[in-house]
Amino acid sequence: MKSIAVSGKGGAGKTALTAMMTKVIIGKGTPGKILLVDADPAGGLAPALGLSVEITIGNIREEIIRSVRKGGRKTKAQIAGAVDYKIMEALAELESFSFLAVGRTETDGCFCPVNDLLRDAIEILLKDFDLVIIDGEAGLEQINRKVMRSVDSLIIVTDPSHRGKRTAAGIKDIVETQRLMKSDQMALVMNRIKGAVGLGEEAAREVGLKLAGCIPEDENITRYDSMGKPLLELPEDSPGVVAVQGILENLRIN
Ligand SMILES: Nc1ncnc2c1ncn2[C@@H]1O[C@H](COP(=O)(O)OP(=O)(O)OP(=O)(O)O)[C@@H](O)[C@H]1O
Ligand SMILES: [Mg+2]
Repeated sequence: MKSIAVSGKGGAGKTALTAMMTKVIIGKGTPGKILLVDADPAGGLAPALGLSVEITIGNIREEIIRSVRKGGRKTKAQIAGAVDYKIMEALAELESFSFLAVGRTETDGCFCPVNDLLRDAIEILLKDFDLVIIDGEAGLEQINRKVMRSVDSLIIVTDPSHRGKRTAAGIKDIVETQRLMKSDQMALVMNRIKGAVGLGEEAAREVGLKLAGCIPEDENITRYDSMGKPLLELPEDSPGVVAVQGILENLRIN
C-alpha cells in the first residue's frame, strides 16, 4: 500500500490538491483500490469529491463509548466486534474510490481501549487498499493518532503568504525533530501563484524542502468551490489539474 498525506496552513489548498490528485490518478486508470481519508476535523474533502458524509470515525467512537457506558461492562472482544462492524458503516465505497472521514472527537478523556481498537481496525482496513491519500491539517496529530504513523509521501502545501511558508517550515520541523510522522519523501507545493516565476523555488529554499511543483490561481477552482460543485469534475485541462499532473510525476506517484 502506498500512502500520501497532505498538510499545510488552513486554507492553503490541501483539499483542492487532494481532490485534484484523486482526479488525475483515477483519470489515468486506477492503480488498484484507492482510499481517500479526510483527517481534517472540519471535514471539507467530501463535498470536493461530490459526497455527503453520514458517519465519521468520531461518530463511531461516540456511539461505542455511549453503549459501553449504558450497557455496563463489556468485554474487550465485544467492543472490538462492534468497532470492526461499525467502521465499515463509515466507509463509503464508490466505483473508483472509497472514502472515510475521521471527523471530530466530542467526548474528552482517554477511553483508551476504544481508541486503540479504532486504530487497529483502521490499520487493518488500510491494508485492503493500494493507495491511501489523506487530507490532513497543519498539526499532523489527527493523521498520526487516528490514521497512520508513517506515510510514503508527505506533501506540504503553502500559498505565497508568509504565514503559509512559516507553517510549512513548522510542519517540516515537527516531522524532523519530534518524528511525529515518518515519511520517505517530504515536498512543498506552492499553490495559488499568479504568474510570479521562481516564487516556488524561493519558498522551497526558504522552507528547506524540495519543490514538488506550483499550482496557479485557477478560476475554475474558485467557481466550482463557490457553486459547491465537486473539484473532481474540473476540466482535465484546467490549469490546476494540469499542474497537479506534473506534481505527481515529480513525486513519482503517478
Ligand atoms: N489554485 C487555486 N486557485 C483558486 N482558488 C483556490 C486554489 N486553491 C485553493 N483555492 C481556494 O482557496 C480556498 C481554500 O482551499 P482549500 O479548501 O483547498 O484549502 P484547505 O487547505 O483544504 O483549507 P482548510 O484548512 O480550511 O481545510 C477554497 O475556497 C478554494 O476554492
Ligand atoms: Mg481542507
